[in-house]
Amino acid sequence: MPGRLDGKVVLVSGAARGMGEADARVCAREGAAVVLGDVLLAEGEAVAASIVADGGRAAFVQLDVSSAEDWKRAVAVAVDEFGGLDGLVNNAGICPTENIEQTTLESWQRVLAVNQTGTFLGMQTALPALRAAGSGSIVNVSSVMSFCGGQGGIAAAYAATKGAIQAMSKGAAMEFGRDAIRVNSIHPGTIDTPMAAAAGGPVDGDARRAFQAMSPLNREGTPEEVAATVLFLLSDESAFITGSEVVVDGGFSTH
Ligand SMILES: NC(=O)c1ccc[n+]([C@@H]2O[C@H](COP(=O)([O-])OP(=O)(O)OC[C@H]3O[C@@H](n4cnc5c(N)ncnc54)[C@H](O)[C@@H]3O)[C@@H](O)[C@H]2O)c1
Repeated sequence: MPGRLDGKVVLVSGAARGMGEADARVCAREGAAVVLGDVLLAEGEAVAASIVADGGRAAFVQLDVSSAEDWKRAVAVAVDEFGGLDGLVNNAGICPTENIEQTTLESWQRVLAVNQTGTFLGMQTALPALRAAGSGSIVNVSSVMSFCGGQGGIAAAYAATKGAIQAMSKGAAMEFGRDAIRVNSIHPGTIDTPMAAAAGGPVDGDARRAFQAMSPLNREGTPEEVAATVLFLLSDESAFITGSEVVVDGGFSTH
C-alpha cells in the first residue's frame, strides 16, 4: 500500500513526546522522512531511534524554537540528510497556568518566545526550502483557547499566543499561497499528554470527570487523534485547504 506521505520530508518541532511524537510517528509510518526537533535531547533521540528501528526514516536535531540559529540547523538537516522539505509542523509549546494577575513579565515573554516567535521563526526559516520543493504544507498548532479563553483564564499568556498563531497562520496562507505552500492552524481541545497533565487537565477523580463532561464526546482526546488531522493537512488529500482553522476538540468549543 502506498503511504499518504510517500516521498515527502517533514519537520516536526516538539517531537520528543506528546502530540509531536505522535505526529512524527504517523508521518514516518505514511512514508515521510521525518526530522524531529526538541529541547529534550535524550527523549527526542529515543523517539527517532525507535522510528528507524521500525523501518522509518528519521533524524533528531536539537531545536529550541525560540532560536533562529537552531531553526537554520534543523532545516539544514532536512535538506542535507533527506534532500529537501515538504512539510512543517510547528507543534512545540509551553503552557504555564497563570492568569493575567499572576503572570510575571519574564514568564509572559518566555511563553511568547516559544509559542509565538517559535512559530514565526519556523515558518520564516522553512520557507526557502518549501519554495524550492515546489509546494508545501505548514501546520501550526494553536488551541481551542484561541476561541474560548481557556478554563477560567488560567493560562493568559498561553491563550494570547494561541490567538496570535491563529491570526499569523491566515496571513501566512495569503503570503505563501502563490508558492503553492498551504498554511493551516489546528485547535486541539484537551489532549492526554504530559502538558495537559501538568496543566491540571486529564487528572483522576471528580475534576477529570467534570472536565470531560464539558465536551459532547465526554472525554479528552489522544495524541493520535490529533496526529490523524495533522497527517491529513500535510498530505495532498488536503490540496485545496489553506488558511483554515481545524478544530479537534471533541466538541469542547461548541459552548
Ligand atoms: N495537550 C493539550 O491539551 C493541548 C491542547 C491544545 C493545544 N496544545 C498544543 O499542542 C502542542 C503540543 O503539546 P503537548 O500537549 O504534546 O505538550 P507536551 O508538553 O507533552 O509536548 C511539548 C513538546 O514541546 C517541547 N518544547 C517545549 N519548549 C520547546 C522549545 N523551546 N523548543 C523546542 N521544543 C520545545 C517539549 O520538550 C515537548 O517535547 C503545544 O503547542 C500545545 O500548546 C496542547
